Amino acid sequence: MLSILIAFMVLAPPQDGSQLYRDNCARCHGQDGNGIPGVDFRTGQFRRPSTDDDLMRIIAGGIPGTAMSPSSLPDAARRSLVDFLRSMPNSAGASAGGGDAARGRTVFEGQGGCTSCHRANGKGSRTGPDLGDAGSNRRAADIERSILNPNAAILPQNRTVRATAADGSTITGRRLNEDTDTIQLIDDRERLVSLSKATLREFTVLKTSPMPSFQGKLTPQELADVIAYLLSLKGPTP
Ligand code: HEC
Ligand code: HEC
Repeated sequence: MLSILIAFMVLAPPQDGSQLYRDNCARCHGQDGNGIPGVDFRTGQFRRPSTDDDLMRIIAGGIPGTAMSPSSLPDAARRSLVDFLRSMPNSAGASAGGGDAARGRTVFEGQGGCTSCHRANGKGSRTGPDLGDAGSNRRAADIERSILNPNAAILPQNRTVRATAADGSTITGRRLNEDTDTIQLIDDRERLVSLSKATLREFTVLKTSPMPSFQGKLTPQELADVIAYLLSLKGPTP
């Protein structure tokens, strides 16, 4: 099994199935997979296809006589899509609110290690964004995507920047504030740093997130619990 998996990864570098889904499928099937009457990917049940190969064929060939039209996506992309469709029932548990906030707090502060970068409920580090109000303006699906695929959508205010001083030394941190002359960031040791742009040799906004993906590192239940916990946080931490 493992060798098959490795062979597969070498032959076909994994593509982001959720992104492919959003780009190609969500306009009909909906973000949550239940946009077509009678078809609901969150149930893990399909009306016609049963094996992965059946799904691959349907995505390539469409379903004649219906709005489900053929697509020219390459094999690797279709395979990522099939993996994503297969994963939707798990994530549906989370989005549908199957989680337990109290258990989620234990995951957040314990085995998940989230407090080594994030702050919530008066605990944790300030190197990552404060998640104390995560529940007031984020949807379950957004939180889930941030956890499973941190690079997919980074809020502008959460970008990491790297500054190189005239002497060549560099400093990396999360951008807190910026005006024409200065930039303030918080570095990886939670120090607030203010830099004068005129003294910098180089200044880059990084496209990737320092947050690791938790895909496969949390069980579906832990993921649902942590999302329920974050959704329960509605205000500035006491
Ligand atoms: C233009 C609208 C549209 C788009 C875009 C679309 N679909 Fe569909 N899809 C449908 C419709 C309508 C059906 C139901 C057809 C029927 O009546 O059986 C369907 C059915 C399906 C089924 C079979 C479901 C079942 O229970 O048998 C699968 C699997 C599927 N779509 C996957 C996808 C994937 C993956 C994508 C993106 C690559 C996609 N579809 C894009 C409209 C669309
Ligand atoms: C190594 C540091 C680090 C760890 C560990 C970490 N994160 Fe993050 N996280 C970040 C940074 C930095 C960002 C901002 C950039 C981004 O959006 O990816 C972020 C972004 C997020 C966001 C989106 C932020 C927003 O404002 O919407 C969520 C939600 C999140 N993290 C949840 C978690 C959870 C839950 C865990 C634990 C399972 C976790 N993070 C572990 C560093 C971390």
